Amino acid sequence: MKNITIANTGLTSSNIVMGCMRINSLSLSEIDGLVKTALDQGINFFDHADKYGGGASETLFSQAIGMNSRLREKMIIQSKCCIRQDFYDASKEYILEAVDGSLKRLQTDFLDILLLHRPDALIEPEEVAEAFEILHSSGKVKYFGVSNYNPMQIELLKKYVPFPLVINQLQYSVVHTPMIDEGMAANMAINQSIERTGHVLDYCRLNDITIQAWSPFQKGFFEGPFFMDPKYVTLNKALTDYGEKYNLHITGAAVAWITRHPANMQVILGTTKPERLIAACQGSDVPMTRQEWYGIYKAAGNMIP
Ligand SMILES: NC(=O)c1ccc[n+]([C@@H]2O[C@H](COP(=O)([O-])OP(=O)(O)OC[C@H]3O[C@@H](n4cnc5c(N)ncnc54)[C@H](OP(=O)(O)O)[C@@H]3O)[C@@H](O)[C@H]2O)c1
Repeated sequence: MKNITIANTGLTSSNIVMGCMRINSLSLSEIDGLVKTALDQGINFFDHADKYGGGASETLFSQAIGMNSRLREKMIIQSKCCIRQDFYDASKEYILEAVDGSLKRLQTDFLDILLLHRPDALIEPEEVAEAFEILHSSGKVKYFGVSNYNPMQIELLKKYVPFPLVINQLQYSVVHTPMIDEGMAANMAINQSIERTGHVLDYCRLNDITIQAWSPFQKGFFEGPFFMDPKYVTLNKALTDYGEKYNLHITGAAVAWITRHPANMQVILGTTKPERLIAACQGSDVPMTRQEWYGIYKAAGNMIP
């Protein structure tokens, strides 16, 4: 397992993260088994949100593993807030309430990292700053970040928030690449040149913000994994061929395509199956040439202008 340093924190983290969005479908013993498998693979980073399972994912996580200080110190725990039923809420009041709820459900005194889950159109960054200051000074949250934010939205927050924003969690996979596409087609008059992310990848690299790739295997917006999908025959063949070279399962190959990027991204796995988690972790630190990386990108149906 490759470890990375999360800039502007003292944290050394696995570049693979266990995502806890789907664990509320599991029994307590299955969750315990999945978390133990993750730890055995060298994963030390766990991604939560107050929203996952309506809070149940956080509760079940801590219950299943029997949260205690010995386990807690092995883990970097991140949670997110701001998505409410049918609206987004980055108000000071809600951020404070949400963190208290997550801490209680996770049976911990602090979050290593808190993310604002999605941009609230009505955000008042002064209020976010006040909430973050209270959370930091009370020891409830050590570091802060965002998710699904573009560069200007981060700049607006940075004007008021007196802490570095250390993470931007973004949808990214070989079948969801707007942050790569727009850069590669710069200065061309084609659809691929349309700026959909505001060059968030370069922005995060310039500002030492670690990108976390969510839904590394999903096509579209939660439309299921692209493996075995007839629309992605060429991609699946390219990943299988690459996997054969390095003795990787196709999921490990799809992870390796993400971890190959020099931005040192983290990959958040959403599987609920230990054997799939193990297979995907194999892609944490595998060589991939430029030719292989571009070949897989192209096999996903993308154009190299
Ligand atoms: N910030 C955000 O807005 C945001 C949004 C979404 C997710 N997230 C985070 O990202 C994490 C990952 O998201 P995700 O769950 O959508 O990611 P994913 O790993 O791309 O998808 C996992 C899903 O694909 C299924 N799957 C089917 N075949 C598979 C195979 N061969 N290998 C692996 N999985 C297969 C899994 O089923 P099985 O369980 O049966 O393996 C599971 O339902 C979440 O847990 C959450 O922490 C963040």
